[in-house]
Amino acid sequence: MASELELSSTFIPSLYKPAALLPIARHRQNLLYLIETFSITIVIGHTGSGKTTQLPQYLDQAGWTTEGKIIGVTQPRRVAATTVATRVAEEMRCKVGEEVGYSIRFEDVTSAATRIKFLTDGMLLREALVDPLLSRYSVIMVDEAHERSLSTDVLLGVLKKIRNMRPELRIVISSATLQAEDFLRFFASGEAKNEHDGEVGGGVGRIISIEGRMYPVDILFLEKPAEDYVERAVKTVFDIHTREADGDILLFLTGREEIDNAIQKISEGAAIFHPKAQALLPLPLYAGLTNEQQLYVFEPAPENTRKVIVSTNIAEASVTIDGIVFVIDCGFAKLRAYNPNTGIETLTAVPISKASATQRAGRAGRTKPGKCFRLYTQHSYELLPETTTSEIQRSNLASVVLQLKALGIDNIVRFGFLTTPPAELVIRAFELLYSLGAVDDYAKLTKPLGVRMAELALEPMMGKALLSAPSFGCLSEVLSVAAMISLQGSVWILHEDDKKATENARRKFAVEEGDHLTYLNVYHAFTTKGKKDSKWCRDHSLNYQSLSRAVSIRTQLKRYLARYGIQADESVSSTMQQSDPSKLSESVRRCLTAGYFAHAAKMQPDGTFKTVNGGLTLHAHPSSLMFNRKADWVIFHEIQENRDKIFIRDVTRVEKNWLLEYAPEYYKVS
Ligand code: CDP
Ligand code: MG
Repeated sequence: MASELELSSTFIPSLYKPAALLPIARHRQNLLYLIETFSITIVIGHTGSGKTTQLPQYLDQAGWTTEGKIIGVTQPRRVAATTVATRVAEEMRCKVGEEVGYSIRFEDVTSAATRIKFLTDGMLLREALVDPLLSRYSVIMVDEAHERSLSTDVLLGVLKKIRNMRPELRIVISSATLQAEDFLRFFASGEAKNEHDGEVGGGVGRIISIEGRMYPVDILFLEKPAEDYVERAVKTVFDIHTREADGDILLFLTGREEIDNAIQKISEGAAIFHPKAQALLPLPLYAGLTNEQQLYVFEPAPENTRKVIVSTNIAEASVTIDGIVFVIDCGFAKLRAYNPNTGIETLTAVPISKASATQRAGRAGRTKPGKCFRLYTQHSYELLPETTTSEIQRSNLASVVLQLKALGIDNIVRFGFLTTPPAELVIRAFELLYSLGAVDDYAKLTKPLGVRMAELALEPMMGKALLSAPSFGCLSEVLSVAAMISLQGSVWILHEDDKKATENARRKFAVEEGDHLTYLNVYHAFTTKGKKDSKWCRDHSLNYQSLSRAVSIRTQLKRYLARYGIQADESVSSTMQQSDPSKLSESVRRCLTAGYFAHAAKMQPDGTFKTVNGGLTLHAHPSSLMFNRKADWVIFHEIQENRDKIFIRDVTRVEKNWLLEYAPEYYKVS
């Protein structure tokens, strides 16, 4: 069945393809020359050509890490930072955290020996708060710049400023698409013009293209639109499995729930009908997974097994998985969108752009010719926008404004952005920060509250709640809640075959007043009764790794607060039973209201919720305790829009008069 060609390719799994064979290798000298000569180098190349894993090593070998200097490589996503660091450490034969390390929110795996550091762009911005010129770095590579994430855009603006003061700093911008000239023009603007540099940004930098080889990818469209793309995707997986040649499948869906759902259907289907001797191995890839779970997708499939990686758009560009021959593209991705009128940021599944569709298809042609099955019609494709609008044009900018203020950038409107955000978004950000007490009447950061909110690695609302906790007498509790909320992944193990088990486990920890107190209860049980033990977690359908992470996050937050002289008195309030539980519950809920008043909603007779200005109808998410329960007013952490409904997650019951008490100004204007 397998042709000779296929046989030989199985002899050398491409995972072990020597780095010298990667497309970037031919450009090594030229790259080093450009980086030596120009302060900005823009590298364009297909995903998988070696930009992220090889370029930092070239720089290290060429002497850019002598005298204690380090190379920083930023990633828009945590998953990319950790997996790539693991890979490069492997290539350099060291442990992660030694010569090669990574730093993401609440997880710093670096040491004094670290010379190459992968970090999220948000983390690098955070470092700039302490070291405004980023003086430890000789080279900063802004990777995946084409994604135009919020933090990438802010970082580019900050780097442009740093460059004026540190001309020796080298900035490398890597991009999978051809927006290179925009980046160069951005850095060149405001530079004294040099007459003989005819081209864009001639004196400042250069663009280098290292296009790797791409194999042809057959694109197939649906004839009629699919009613349910998850169903359709699962069907396509089986079609490929029964009809097509060997090769792994990469399926793009929009989020955790869809992915878990698809994985379950694929597993069930694979168990029922076993058309070939070959097995199907479905694996999820999304941001809420633990590092360990994320690494599974990179491992070669066991013998006689076809991997099906079901991923969010993480796999679109930032991580490269070898062996993919078939791509299934649902045509949607979850995008953050902030509505300045409602003041609410939703994560909504929206149609992708043509650029994304091309990028997704390209994932199939990396090692041999591939196929891309688009779960939409050619006609719908024609209607897609060319590119995705950058995040800065559609996000809640409160954190960005807070961060820029803390970096000493006072005039946000005149800050050199690659794309200037709409004025309306900037105004709303100031309004929220003002109502949280982070900025004053003159738009200056307040001291200490505003400054501390900027320094804490929490979003402004959670930051405000945590910093207010001592005055409510519940610091220890809110620390735990903040840590649990920061996990961004489920603490519950979802029993695919037995939804009841999860439900029962959940019920054991349920607290009437809502999800935040339930989290607190879980955390508390884990650290006391559960003795931080993995067996206890399994018995209670809890995710041991997530909870361990929560313990670590809590310790870090606590350490932060200690620096401000804010100490959690763990001895008194460490148990909910000791003090009056209902009093404590009220304090925690009041404290959360002081941070989350802008995320308040009122329950309607039909059980749905309405935002304060009545603009939106919200539904408690099925995973929430407030699903099918009565409340009058609630605050919530997160809002999510699925195809037809808007859900709120992490919901807690509060009192209307608390809203007026803690945010009188906010509720006067609204
Ligand atoms: O950054 P770019 O997309 O240009 O490529 P890269 O991430 O540096 O990947 C270069 C090669 O390393 C890919 O072709 C993969 O074969 C391999 N790689 C891997 O096997 N596992 C990883 N975690 C990362 C990269
Ligand atoms: Mg890369």
